[in-house]
Amino acid sequence: MTARWYRSGAIYSLDVRLFQDSNGDGIGDFAGLTSRLDHLSRLGISILWLGPIHPTPFRDGGYDVADYYAVDPSLGTLGDFAELMAECDERGIRVMLDLVLNHTSDEHPWFQAARSDRRSPYRDWYVWSDDEPPNRNEGMVFPGVQESTWTYDDTAGAWYHHRFYSFQPDLNVLNPHVRSEMKKILTFWERLGVSGFRLDGAPFLIEKTTADGAAGRAHGFLVELRDRLSWLRGDAVFLAEAHVPDDELLEFFGDADGAASRVHMLFAFRLNEALMLSLARRDASAIAEALTSLPPLPRNAAWATFLRNHDEVDLSQLTPDERAEVFAAFGPEPEHQLYERGIRRRLTPMLNGDEARVRLAYSLQFTMPGTPVLRYGDEIGMGENLELPERDAIRTPMQWSGTENGGFSTAPEDRLLRPLVDAPPYGFKEVNVTDQRLVPDSMLMWFDRMLHTLRECEEIGAGSHRVIDGTPAPVLAHVAEGSTGVILFVHNLTDSPQCVELDDVPVEEQPPVEVFSDHPYDSELDPTRLEVGPYGFRWIRLRRSHGPAPG
Ligand code: NOJ
Ligand code: CA
Repeated sequence: MTARWYRSGAIYSLDVRLFQDSNGDGIGDFAGLTSRLDHLSRLGISILWLGPIHPTPFRDGGYDVADYYAVDPSLGTLGDFAELMAECDERGIRVMLDLVLNHTSDEHPWFQAARSDRRSPYRDWYVWSDDEPPNRNEGMVFPGVQESTWTYDDTAGAWYHHRFYSFQPDLNVLNPHVRSEMKKILTFWERLGVSGFRLDGAPFLIEKTTADGAAGRAHGFLVELRDRLSWLRGDAVFLAEAHVPDDELLEFFGDADGAASRVHMLFAFRLNEALMLSLARRDASAIAEALTSLPPLPRNAAWATFLRNHDEVDLSQLTPDERAEVFAAFGPEPEHQLYERGIRRRLTPMLNGDEARVRLAYSLQFTMPGTPVLRYGDEIGMGENLELPERDAIRTPMQWSGTENGGFSTAPEDRLLRPLVDAPPYGFKEVNVTDQRLVPDSMLMWFDRMLHTLRECEEIGAGSHRVIDGTPAPVLAHVAEGSTGVILFVHNLTDSPQCVELDDVPVEEQPPVEVFSDHPYDSELDPTRLEVGPYGFRWIRLRRSHGPAPG
């Protein structure tokens, strides 16, 4: 055993509400998703990450949970969920759930009880202050739409803390009853068969906030959660969302070998920002620098890499000048931007619909250390709808076909949860699964090939990566090496062909084999001297080890 399941293959992220409606009410549901699993299976997806599925007033895409032990009725019943799980199992697809424990919805019965009675056992499940906290206008995660992190509640007669929107009161992680309840939530969903959880807002979840301010993070609580997770199911994992600087990031992994293990995977936010910067500049140095300086991971830990997710492109770790460069290249108009904090667009329109460049970008992402995450619809190059508010612009229904409502739903158009993108060039008539299936060189079929190649390249997720120096500025050359072999990757970020000399490529006895590329290159393959076409990429296997892997 070398790669663990979460370090090989790819994660597909989707919101059930936006994928496939089965009963014509305009909202995607479990039965609809189940009926589309063959699309994912054929695409070569091995892990599904479902956005929040719990009952919710849906004021923040479901990240405002009103009951952790149920599914939102608009998605179906728990029985439908169980059926989805069974069908995923049949296809060897693992399921991970979004777990939003930092806060609840203000409609959650715990908050209702807490606000209406000071003596309620639930009062202390949230974070209160009788006096106006002096720091109440600091630490907003959503500047622009969120004015403060403390709000006065008339019913409660006190101020409550919320890192995110005011309708998302933070739970008090210092309260032992809250901690036990959170573990119970893990137990419940693990018993229903999920393989892991995305820990939403992990740094805030473990923040020790009181009325006097934040007093550091309770990392020990991650150890407690991890103990419960792994006790129930040895191979279950946590994937934490923690957009913090590197020195704080490693704290989330903990000591992978010892008694203090925490999460298994973290999203590679800094790498994402470097990818965006390099793509914008058509210069590989930002990625090379990020790759070289990524902190070393504990044994069995892994990055989750991504280009786009369900939120805006977050550029907060770039310098103001770098951020301005990315905005200028990919989100120049005010409507592309979200309160100056990020870009609310899908990748294909960000790259002006240049498919060669989009493929280059995804090839880069998929060869970075870690497990790639792909957002639904990106496999066909979907666009956004900038008329929708905020992040909803990139949360439009999946485009299955050129027929009514893009095959998403049979509901009348005005009853859809959100409108489909219908304007060319990214409307459902132009961009959809059914049409692309029939075209061998479509984006979909290209993703299909890349994802299947990825499954033969365990070194990407489980090996160690090294940048090869000495390439021209627009080219990134890097090598991944693991117990199964060695692969060389070369990417050209410009639209002019490049020629690279790579003296530092490991010399192997086996003949090199090109396993994936933007187009067929010369059959005479010399890994020390390579051509790479406009926006070209080459995956060259230098060695395949056939013996038993150690460990
Ligand atoms: C992070 C999620 O990615 C985002 O979509 C959500 O709004 C916040 N957490 C609040 O839960
Ligand atoms: Ca439905």
